[in-house]
Amino acid sequence: LHVVHIAVEMAPIAKVGGLGDVVTSLSRAVQELNHNVDIIFPKYDCIKYNFVKDLQFNRSYHWGETEIKVWHGKVEGVSVYFLDPQNGLFQRGCVYGCADDAGRFGFFCHAALEFLLQGGFHPDILHCHDWSSAPVSWLFKDQYTHYGLIKTRVVFTIHNLEFGASAIGKAMTFADKATTVSRTYAKEVAGNSVISPHLYKFHGIVNGIDPDIWDPYNDNFIPVPYTSENVLEGKRAAKEELQNRLGLKSADLPLVGIITRLTHQKGIHLIKHAIWRTLERNGQVVLLGSAPDPRIQNDFVNLANQLHSTHGDRARLVLTYDEPLSHLIYAGADFILVPSIFEPCGLTQLIAMRYGAVPVVRKTGGLYDTVFDVDHDKERAQAQVLEPNGFSFDGADAPGVDYALNRAISAWYDGREWFNSLCKTVMEQDWSWNRPALEYIELYHSARK
Ligand code: ADP
Ligand code: GLC
Repeated sequence: LHVVHIAVEMAPIAKVGGLGDVVTSLSRAVQELNHNVDIIFPKYDCIKYNFVKDLQFNRSYHWGETEIKVWHGKVEGVSVYFLDPQNGLFQRGCVYGCADDAGRFGFFCHAALEFLLQGGFHPDILHCHDWSSAPVSWLFKDQYTHYGLIKTRVVFTIHNLEFGASAIGKAMTFADKATTVSRTYAKEVAGNSVISPHLYKFHGIVNGIDPDIWDPYNDNFIPVPYTSENVLEGKRAAKEELQNRLGLKSADLPLVGIITRLTHQKGIHLIKHAIWRTLERNGQVVLLGSAPDPRIQNDFVNLANQLHSTHGDRARLVLTYDEPLSHLIYAGADFILVPSIFEPCGLTQLIAMRYGAVPVVRKTGGLYDTVFDVDHDKERAQAQVLEPNGFSFDGADAPGVDYALNRAISAWYDGREWFNSLCKTVMEQDWSWNRPALEYIELYHSARK
């Protein structure tokens, strides 16, 4: 198959959240299964060019009034065509956040289709993502189902239905197949009016993570490389380094990590409650998060200051986006807490497991599909040929969080040997793209029938 992704976020060159991770890692996984994958991407001025290999000018073409220069390079081994329209649309120092984002990305989608047509490409699949590249679906059906593109089919993936529902609804109508990023989220949104008419072509496929990109044995940001064989040694060294770096007390305490965008989706009131509860239970907390909304950011700055004076040796809130620090937290934490109100898939619980940190999550969306409670989900785990791998709770309230967090911290204090074997178990589980990539390939084939 020849698959072309049209996307506006991509790790590590222009990552905003999990969508960026998925575009890169799904592409790599499908490519490793001997398919041909290209990504078409805006040539933002803010791209981290140190991660782009072999960048070369490729061609230039015109679309409407605009000249578009095309560059080609490789990111994590995947071929990327960068579109650089000479009207300055992507010279804004940011990925999102402009008043005309819908127009900018609409232009990009159209320019991408024109690039494929004028360049003589014949992809089997165009894969677009969320509201930002949703226009590919209807522009394609409206204007491009001819010439070389006659055999091309469009697959649309919803990473988050919260944003751009009307564009998502329109893409659902025009796409040949649609997916979202876990089975449970697919069920949760099935009744939504933009989804319900299209259930016959809508599938939930859980995300994976790239085990080469997230690999504690090969990670420049952590002090001691480790696998499940020396997980305790590796995590102990990472915890010490994290404590030193953040000025926390160097002590063997249960450390709860939280790595997140600070938005309503992620359960802000539950995060706050969990911080206090962990401190009461004599644990340490490290939160790495940034809030797009300045009011929320301010609120957390105040909380950080308060905690600094009352619990400076056991709590640190780092209110920014920091990729290297995130690696050290995954490695150094005993638990990663994800108390989301809703979560289409969630990647942080998967990365946590890869680093031997035990997830503590709310049972929703992809968190439900990937985390199996040690006390309650044995059978559900067995049905997936898995061992239980974490702690989970239902209610989006303080008692809910307490129920999971208390059990987690008690297990750490009272059952160290058992807890250590749990770290090993979670590390050995396979949350890579091995399985989900095959499901995508099957879906691509079925779109072509
Ligand atoms: P979402 O896409 O909804 O934000 P995901 O769990 O799918 O949530 O993906 C989040 C990704 O962004 C993960 O790779 C996580 O490690 C990363 N991330 C989130 N917040 C931060 C932060 N403040 N600093 C560094 N990485 C972060
Ligand atoms: C979205 C969702 C998140 C998902 C990610 C990648 O940002 O909020 O749950 O993991 O996309 O699909």
